[in-house]
Amino acid sequence: MKLLITGASGMVGQNLIEHPDFQSHTLLRPSSKELNLLNRDAVVEYLKTNTPDFIIHAAGRVGGIQANIKHPVAFLTENMDMGFNLLLAAQAVGIPQLLNLGSSCMYPRNAPNPLKEELVLKGELEPTNEGYAIAKCAVSRLCDYIHAENENLQYKTLIPCNLYGRWDKFDPKNSHLIPAIIAKTLKAVQEGHHSIEIWGDGSARREFMYAEDLADFISLALSRFEELEQLTNVGLGFDYSIKDYYQATAESFSFKGGFAFDLSKPTGMKQKLVDCKRAHALGWKAKTDLKTGISKTIAFYQEEYRGASV
Ligand SMILES: NC(=O)c1ccc[n+]([C@@H]2O[C@H](COP(=O)([O-])OP(=O)(O)OC[C@H]3O[C@@H](n4cnc5c(N)ncnc54)[C@H](OP(=O)(O)O)[C@@H]3O)[C@@H](O)[C@H]2O)c1
Repeated sequence: MKLLITGASGMVGQNLIEHPDFQSHTLLRPSSKELNLLNRDAVVEYLKTNTPDFIIHAAGRVGGIQANIKHPVAFLTENMDMGFNLLLAAQAVGIPQLLNLGSSCMYPRNAPNPLKEELVLKGELEPTNEGYAIAKCAVSRLCDYIHAENENLQYKTLIPCNLYGRWDKFDPKNSHLIPAIIAKTLKAVQEGHHSIEIWGDGSARREFMYAEDLADFISLALSRFEELEQLTNVGLGFDYSIKDYYQATAESFSFKGGFAFDLSKPTGMKQKLVDCKRAHALGWKAKTDLKTGISKTIAFYQEEYRGASV
């Protein structure tokens, strides 16, 4: 298959490119400089020239809470424009299949866990990343509308839970939870601290999947695309407490100290767990256990950031 991966340099994109199942495809993987998805004419031209059989849309402006709060305009408009430009160009050129990546922030803030796909757009969104979430919901609905108008165009959306792994962001300015825990633990080991600070009491629960497991699911989705629903959650099907993530990281570094809980700091939502029945019905389950995933992510961090070895 000739496969276009947008966002190929990002965490999801890199995990796809490294995955053994993707080696047999012809991969088109333009950077944002080579194909700026904010430029609709350029996207139409690219698709006409390169005619991919299948598109995986993994590009986006992605960031943590601080970045979302600071730049809501960019998070809304860039994600909406990238998605709309790509989908409408693909529709115009007649690309038959497209897999769009959504995010669990598409779910209403008060939706009951585990979050079922039919709850999208059934309530108020979390205000801290509302712009991003609106863009994700709109692009996902556009997939549905394009398919509704022309059933030969199969454009579908995956909603992955939180991800971590190789190619994650470790820069403290925009790092996600697990890279931040890894960097913090390494610092504690290097500087001989006796304890590591955790915001809140560590009991809030989060579902983080090793990014290679998402690549696994996407490989399966490609081979059974017709069976895939318009919206499919992809996650572990269970979650861990924030303290569990600290504990697993501390064990990987053989950190012997304890944890200090700062109860004056916010802990965020109590739980965010996606319902994985649709993904599991395809016979798929995430393979990587927490200890292995954390160890591989630490190895990547130490490889990439040479000064980071203990
Ligand atoms: N990371 C997670 O925990 C997570 C969880 C659930 C869902 N997702 C979803 O998965 C997707 C990928 O996330 P990620 O973590 O891999 O993101 P990421 O590491 O931040 O990568 C973002 C990618 O988007 C590309 N991009 C940004 N602006 C672009 C533009 N104007 N034109 C073309 N490409 C552009 C970047 O390309 P350049 O480097 O070339 O600029 C980069 O390859 C997103 O839709 C995200 O919502 C991620």
